[in-house]
Amino acid sequence: MQMEKLVSLCKRRGFLFQSSEIYGGLQGFWDYGPLGVELKRNVKDAWWRDMVNAHDDLTAPAGAPAAYEMTGLDCTIIMHPQVWKCSGHYDLFHDYMVDCRESRKRYRHDQVRGRWVEAKDQRIFVTTMDSVEEEQSSIQAKALKFFNLRAKNAEQLNWIGDFIALPEVDDTSKVLGPDAKSLDTLTEPREFNLMFKTTVGALGGEDDVSFLRPETAQGIFVNFKNVLDSSRVKIPFGIAQTGKSFRNEITPRNFTFRSREFEQMEIEFFCHPETSHEWYQYWRDRRMQWYIDMGLAGERLRLREHPPEELSHYSTGTADIEYAFPFLPEGEFGELEGIAHRGDFDLRSHMEGKLDEKSLPLEVQLGPDGKPKWRGSGKDLSYFDDDAWERDKEQLGLRSFKEYVKQNKDADQPGAPYQYIPHVIEPSAGADRATLAFLCESYDEDQAPDEKGKMQTRTVMRFHPRLAPVKAAVFPLVKKDGMPAVAQQVYRDLKSHFNVFYDEKGAVGRRYRRQDEIGTPFCITVDGQTLEDQTVTVRDRDSLEQWRVKIDDIVEDLRPRMI
Ligand code: GAP
Repeated sequence: MQMEKLVSLCKRRGFLFQSSEIYGGLQGFWDYGPLGVELKRNVKDAWWRDMVNAHDDLTAPAGAPAAYEMTGLDCTIIMHPQVWKCSGHYDLFHDYMVDCRESRKRYRHDQVRGRWVEAKDQRIFVTTMDSVEEEQSSIQAKALKFFNLRAKNAEQLNWIGDFIALPEVDDTSKVLGPDAKSLDTLTEPREFNLMFKTTVGALGGEDDVSFLRPETAQGIFVNFKNVLDSSRVKIPFGIAQTGKSFRNEITPRNFTFRSREFEQMEIEFFCHPETSHEWYQYWRDRRMQWYIDMGLAGERLRLREHPPEELSHYSTGTADIEYAFPFLPEGEFGELEGIAHRGDFDLRSHMEGKLDEKSLPLEVQLGPDGKPKWRGSGKDLSYFDDDAWERDKEQLGLRSFKEYVKQNKDADQPGAPYQYIPHVIEPSAGADRATLAFLCESYDEDQAPDEKGKMQTRTVMRFHPRLAPVKAAVFPLVKKDGMPAVAQQVYRDLKSHFNVFYDEKGAVGRRYRRQDEIGTPFCITVDGQTLEDQTVTVRDRDSLEQWRVKIDDIVEDLRPRMI
C-alpha cells in the first residue's frame, strides 16, 4: 500500500486533517475529522470495554494466573511538578538532537539517515530527513549539487554501503547535513527534554513551572492509595486510563505516528512480587491477541521480546507489540505498545524519593548534599493483604499486625508477606498509533462489478465492524415510489442501535463505492420488493454477498456480525 494514497483518502473523506491547516499547519499536531473521530473513539471504546468494563472480575481468563479486578481513572494533564521529578522524566526523559549551524534547523540525532558517496576523489556522507521512498532520490540530488555534477552524470557518484543513521558515523567532518550546502555544519548531539513546560497561576515565577504530562501512567501511580481506599479492590488488580499525553518531539513525522500531542491507553497492573513474571507473560499475550482480534493479524504484526541485556535490572521482562507501518523501510517495525514489568520502581519512587535505576538493590538517588535528589511523597504506598493476615494470625499466636512487625523488625521488609509494595506490569498503548495501524491495515484495492456488471477497481477500507466509523448505510434504490420514506424509517429505527448513515444521492453503485471507501461494513437497500414484502437487501462490504431480511429483523441480523 502506498502511504500517499491513504494520506489523501484520510483528508478527502474526513479522517485526519493537519491541525490549524488554514494557517499553514503546526508540525506534530493532528485533528480527527468527522469519520476519524468515530474511528478513534471506537478504538478507545473497544480497548476500554475489552480491558475494563466487560472484564469478568470473578473468573480467571485463559492464560491468567488467577482472577483479577479492573478499574479506571481519569487524571489531570497537569500534575504536581514533583511527580515528574520522582518518575525520572525531569532528569531522564530526553532525546539527542543536533543543530545545523548553516540552515539553523534542528534534527533528532538518530533520525538523520544517509549514505557514503565518493566522487571527484572526495568521500562524503550525504544525509536526508525525507521518507524512505524518497530518501535515495533526495540524497542523489544533494550529492549531484555538492559535486557540481549534472543529472546525466549520476553514474559518477559511487555509493558505498547502505543507508545508516547519523549516530553510526564516526567522522562528522564529512557529513553534509539534511538542509546544508557545505560539510561539517552539524553540532555535537545534545540532550533535549521532551516535556512541554507551562506556568500555573498568574505570578509566573520558577516555582510555578509545571509540565503537560508525557504519559498517563504517573496519574495512576500517585492515585494508587486513593483507589485502594475507595474501591475495596484487592491485589491482583489493574487500573486503566486513557487520555492525552504531550511530548515535544524534535522531529515529529510519519503522519500521526510520532506526534507532539497524542492519546495513550495505559494499564498499571498491581500484583504480588512472586507472581509478577507470570502476570507479565499473561498481559504480553493478552494485549497481542487484542490487536489480532481487532484485525491486525498477519506478518505485519509482531511481538518483540527485549533481550535480557536491554532490560532494567528491576524488570524481568519487556516486550513491544510492533507493526510494519508502510512508511518504514522494508523489514522495519514501529512500536504500537510496550508491555513492561516495572517491579516496584514507581510506587517506591513516589514513596521514598526517586530511585536510582542503576542501583542494585534499588536505592534512593542522592544529591550532592547526601539527601534524596528528589523527595518522594513520604506516603505509605504499600499494600496490606488483610485476608492472608486474618487467615494466619491465630496460627502465629499473635493478636495484632503491629506485634508481627515488631517481631520481624530486623528483616528487610518486616511486614512481609502480609504487607508489601506491589509489583507492576504496564501495558502501555497509543490510541493514535493503533488507529493509524488499523487505517494502514484496512486500506485495500480490489475489483468489484459496477451496476452494469463491469469490473471496476474499488478502494475499500476493511475495518473490523467494531472499529468502522459507520456501521451501516441505508439507501432507497431510487428516489421515488415511496422508497425514500421507507428507507428513512429504517434509518431512524437503526440509529438508536448503530451509527448508521442515510444516502439517497446518485446511482446506487456510486453510493456503495462511497461507503466501501470509508469502510462501512453493511449497506441496506430499500427496493421495489420492500414495498411488497417488507424485506430489504443487506450487502456485505468484503464478500459483496447480498441477502434479504425483514425490516423488523435487521438489528438481530446485523448485531452478531458486528462482534
Ligand atoms: N508509560 C509508558 C510509556 O509512556 P512509551 O513507550 O513512551 O511508554 C507508550 O509510550 C505508547 O504511547 C507507545 O507505544 C506509542 O503507542 C504511544 N506514543 C508514544 N509516543 C508517541 C508519540 N510521540 N506520538 C504518538 N504516539 C506515541
